[in-house]
Amino acid sequence: MNNMFRIVKDTAKSIRARSVDVSEDKLNDAIALVNDMHDYLVMSQNEELASKYKIREGVGLAAPQVGRNIDVIAVYFTYEEDGETKVVDHRLINPHIISESVKLAYLQAGEGCLSVDENHEGYVYRHFKILVKAIDAKDKKEKVITARGYEAIVLQHEIDHLSGVLYYDHIDKKDPFKVIEGSVRL
Ligand code: NI
Repeated sequence: MNNMFRIVKDTAKSIRARSVDVSEDKLNDAIALVNDMHDYLVMSQNEELASKYKIREGVGLAAPQVGRNIDVIAVYFTYEEDGETKVVDHRLINPHIISESVKLAYLQAGEGCLSVDENHEGYVYRHFKILVKAIDAKDKKEKVITARGYEAIVLQHEIDHLSGVLYYDHIDKKDPFKVIEGSVRL
């Protein structure tokens, strides 16, 4: 299987490096990579396959985590709404946040990361709503994606990886469970 990535851990220097944008001539290579990253996430959410291949469940992956310091991210998760299963599937090349809400949000359970083996407890505050400009790998077109809540949090986590930033960098070391007034708990 060509998408059996070896995940780069936070002990590696390269996870802290700044990634570079994908140039036009490398676009097809980046699309092939992000499709493999997508397949890896889907597989990680299948209990049987995840245990067979001994991989952890993940909802997002950035290229530096699979050994490529280029601006490429994949996000994949499903949720139930109105009795239907909804799918969030982003495969983005050169994603850039172009707008963000003042309102913040955080996950009550904290964040996790495939590159981080130890648990880092505390709240990670992120923007509740963001606009992301990127090339969509599905049709090679540049578009602006609007994301809110959990989807916005996952996108910000992955885009952070492209600057070498990890979720626990955002945790207040002196007061990890500090509640910021007006923020949305998810
Ligand atoms: Ni991560």
